[in-house]
Amino acid sequence: MSVNPVEQPVLDAIANRWSPYRFEAKEVEDEKLLCLLEAARWAASSFNDQPWSWIIARRQDHDDFQRMLGCLMEANRAWASQAGALIVTVIRNSFEYNGKPNRVALHDVGQAAAHLALQAASIGLQVHQMAGVNLSAICQEYAVPEGYSPQTAIAIGYPDTSEPVTDPGRELQKREEGSRRRKPLRDQVFARSWGSPAEFVN
Ligand SMILES: Cc1cc2nc3c(=O)[nH]c(=O)nc-3n(C[C@H](O)[C@H](O)[C@H](O)COP(=O)(O)O)c2cc1C
Repeated sequence: MSVNPVEQPVLDAIANRWSPYRFEAKEVEDEKLLCLLEAARWAASSFNDQPWSWIIARRQDHDDFQRMLGCLMEANRAWASQAGALIVTVIRNSFEYNGKPNRVALHDVGQAAAHLALQAASIGLQVHQMAGVNLSAICQEYAVPEGYSPQTAIAIGYPDTSEPVTDPGRELQKREEGSRRRKPLRDQVFARSWGSPAEFVN
């Protein structure tokens, strides 16, 4: 996968990040996993409540890895089985400091996941985030307590950038290439009224 065709001078990690469907079936070093989790730990959050938790399964912990793989939707399971580690993201639904509902917990875990993804891209790894997970299976498998909600999964690993030699491999490569399109900024950045693009955005 080549560097993203970004149109402004952004950070290298942003230009280099992408979501592989083909990972090299190998372990990720613990120090690199720690580095990713540390990046996520330093994400900003509303009231600094840090409402995220991560459940992680490393490839080398075969039974744990298979158990987490079993919580993914089948379509994701097929390719995520090659990852070096899997994570399930969980939010705390209420603020720790006052017990009131935290309506931005999902925003916060998304931001922490973005930190993790960008850190990964800057050290030769990539991640592929997934909404396609079986939430009730996660709650059951990991005894997620009341007041916490699993949200997504994240596959982490070394992208396999070799030329595929099998039909399924070629199919996955095609999917990787198809997901690189972006909407123009003028469709996303408004000023003064909804739908009216900001003037400085071309
Ligand atoms: C919250 C979230 C959920 C996603 N869920 C899935 C998923 O279940 N299956 C999948 O194949 N890709 C999933 N993706 C990956 C997106 O399809 C991918 O990020 C998008 O196509 C843009 O490609 P890029 O990450 O390579 O820039 C998800 C991404 C995010 C951020």
